[in-house]
Amino acid sequence: MKTFSPYNIKNLTLKNRVVMPPMCMNMAEDGHPTDFHYIHYGNAALGEIGLIIVEATGVTPEGRILERDLGLWRDDQIEGHKKIVDLSKKYGSSIGIQLGHAGRKCGIKSLTTYAPSPIMFNDHYGVPKEMNQEEIARIVLGFQEAARRSLEAGYELIEIHGAHGYLIHQFLSPLSNHRTDEYGGSTENRVRFLKEVTEAVKSVLPKDFPLILRVSATDYVEGGIDIKEMVKIIDLVKEEYDMIHVSSGGLHVDQEITLYPGYQVKLSETLKKECGVETIAVGLITEVGQVEEILQNNRADLVALGRVLLRDPFVIIREGHGHVTPLFAYQRGFHVNWIQKK
Ligand SMILES: Cc1cc2nc3c(=O)[nH]c(=O)nc-3n(C[C@H](O)[C@H](O)[C@H](O)COP(=O)(O)O)c2cc1C
Repeated sequence: MKTFSPYNIKNLTLKNRVVMPPMCMNMAEDGHPTDFHYIHYGNAALGEIGLIIVEATGVTPEGRILERDLGLWRDDQIEGHKKIVDLSKKYGSSIGIQLGHAGRKCGIKSLTTYAPSPIMFNDHYGVPKEMNQEEIARIVLGFQEAARRSLEAGYELIEIHGAHGYLIHQFLSPLSNHRTDEYGGSTENRVRFLKEVTEAVKSVLPKDFPLILRVSATDYVEGGIDIKEMVKIIDLVKEEYDMIHVSSGGLHVDQEITLYPGYQVKLSETLKKECGVETIAVGLITEVGQVEEILQNNRADLVALGRVLLRDPFVIIREGHGHVTPLFAYQRGFHVNWIQKK
C-alpha cells in the first residue's frame, strides 16, 4: 500500500505517509512541555505515525492561543521540547513542530493582542491592537528565534502556521487586513508579512531542512480568501516551502462549512495541480482506506489524521494489518502476527 511507503521531504525520510497534524493540547506550563506531552507524542510514535507535527507553539507569549499552549520564546523552553523529540525519534517517528502566533485570537486576558487591523474576531477576544512596523519586526524576530530553538531541540521539520485565522492568516485575508500600507491591499502586499516570516526563519535553517506552510485554503465567506486567491498566494511563496498542509476556515464567525469525510481533500488536490506543490491533506479522514484513496489518486502526498489519533493512537497498526510492524513488537521479541491478530 502507498500509505505505508516511505516519503522524502528534503533530507528527511518518513517511514510512511501518515501524519499526526498539530493539535493544541492545552497542557503546557509557562510554555514548557509536561509529562502529558511525553506520553501523548510518545504514544503517536509507538503508533507508527510517519511524521508527528507538534501542536501550535507560541513564538512570543501573546503568540499563544491559550495560556497552557507550548512555547519556544525563551531558551529555557528548549529542554522539554528536546525530550519530546528524543522520545519520538527513539520509537521511530520523524518529528516536526508548528510555530505560530495567535494574533487577534490570543485568549490570554492579561496580554495585549495584535493584528494587522483593529478588527475583532468576536466579543470574547475583543479589539486587537493594529501592529506598527516595530511590532511586526518583533514578531518576525520571534519566529526566527523560535526556529533556531526548534533546531536546537532536534526537530527535523518546521511548519509555519498560516491557517485557522491566526496572525499570518489575518494578514493574508482581506476580511481581517484593512491596512493601507505595504502590508495591505493587493495579494502581494497581504503576503508580505508571511514572506518576512519565511525569510527570517529560513535564514537560520540549514539548506536541506524541510519547511512546511499550513494554510486555510478558503475562508468560506464572501470577500475573503477562496481557492482561486489561495492559488495566487501559494504561487508567491511556493519556492520557499517544501510542502503545503491544506486546511480551511477559522478566520471569520460567518463561515459556513459543510462537513463530510475528506471535505478538505479537494482543496489539497487543487493546490497540488494548479501550483505544482506537494501537499498534506487533512480533515475528517479516519480510515486507512481513505488515506490510500487520496494517495493513489494523487490528491495529496501525505495524509494527516487528527482527532482519530486522539481517540486511538494505534489506528494505523490496527487497520494496517500486515503492512505495519509495530516497533515495540520487534523490541520485545513478540511475534508480529500474534500482535496484529484481530
Ligand atoms: C484538539 C485540537 C487541537 C488543534 N490544534 C491545532 C493546532 O495547534 N494547529 C493547527 O494547525 N490545527 C490544530 N487543530 C486542527 C487539526 O490539526 C486538524 O486540522 C483538524 O482536527 C481536522 O482534522 P481531523 O478531522 O482529522 O481531526 C486542532 C484540532 C483539534 C481537534
